[in-house]
Amino acid sequence: MIGVLHKLFLAVGLSTGVVVGTQSQNIALADEPGTVLITGSSRGVGFELAKQYAVKEWKVIATCRTPSEADDLVRLAESYPNVVIEEMDVTDVDEIEALAKGYAGTPIDVLINNAGIFGTVSLQRFEELDYSTFVDVMAVNVFGPLKVTQAFADSVAASEKKKIVTITSGLGSMTLTEEAFEGYYFYRASKASVNIIGRTLAADLRDRGILIGLFNPGIVDTGFGGTNYDGPKLTPEEAVAALIGFVETLSPETAATMINYDGVPMPW
Ligand SMILES: NC(=O)c1ccc[n+]([C@@H]2O[C@H](COP(=O)([O-])OP(=O)(O)OC[C@H]3O[C@@H](n4cnc5c(N)ncnc54)[C@H](OP(=O)(O)O)[C@@H]3O)[C@@H](O)[C@H]2O)c1
Repeated sequence: MIGVLHKLFLAVGLSTGVVVGTQSQNIALADEPGTVLITGSSRGVGFELAKQYAVKEWKVIATCRTPSEADDLVRLAESYPNVVIEEMDVTDVDEIEALAKGYAGTPIDVLINNAGIFGTVSLQRFEELDYSTFVDVMAVNVFGPLKVTQAFADSVAASEKKKIVTITSGLGSMTLTEEAFEGYYFYRASKASVNIIGRTLAADLRDRGILIGLFNPGIVDTGFGGTNYDGPKLTPEEAVAALIGFVETLSPETAATMINYDGVPMPW
């Protein structure tokens, strides 16, 4: 069992040693505040992103699909006037385009495509494959980041920092097929897809000076996915500190390739 878990940690980019955050501490250089737009910021990694950027005095455009139910985010915005909550379901083309139109002419330094779903695990087993779940997972994890990026590209291009980062997953890596995981067809496919989309966006947006980042946060203790995994996890605070460090140091050398939370490129 221990051997299986060890393989599992390696598969998703988690170390079995306690080295969490080392690289991020090294790269957490000061970065002048700008404007960040985050998708899926009602909870989990997205909420923690909104919180850490708010503390760093960035202007935070915290988007979520149901602001009236995003209690933590509402409380954050009450404490930090630099946080603005906006409604945006990343599968809703009209909503995405309307919000982007509202921000037309407003520079957005960093766009973080964070919103994601795992999809019901049991419906991604070979014997049970449920194609409407497949459609749902692809809609949020693949269509969402692409459409949001397309809609907000002008605002990012108009900014100083010009960075777009999508949260991917080690489960989308082609090197994991023989590892301890089984199933998860839809989630894996969605993250592999969003990786190739990231590389394609990097080529299309290079002339506008936009850098595309693809970041694997490791296994983060947000309750995401509902799998039975009971091994080591990063806290949202640790994962997001690493993510912000990644954003700050994103360069042509680290763009358009999958980077693990510890700063190391992942095979994909
Ligand atoms: N946690 C991990 O171990 C892990 C590992 C690797 C990668 N990731 C990736 O990290 C990202 C964040 O994961 P998490 O752990 O923070 O998950 P989470 O706690 O489940 O949060 C997911 C967020 O996405 C939002 N969301 C879902 N569907 C949406 C839609 N159609 N439009 C807009 N927002 C939507 C949710 O909003 P509602 O509150 O409205 O549902 C929620 O705010 C995901 O892309 C995930 O694939 C996570």
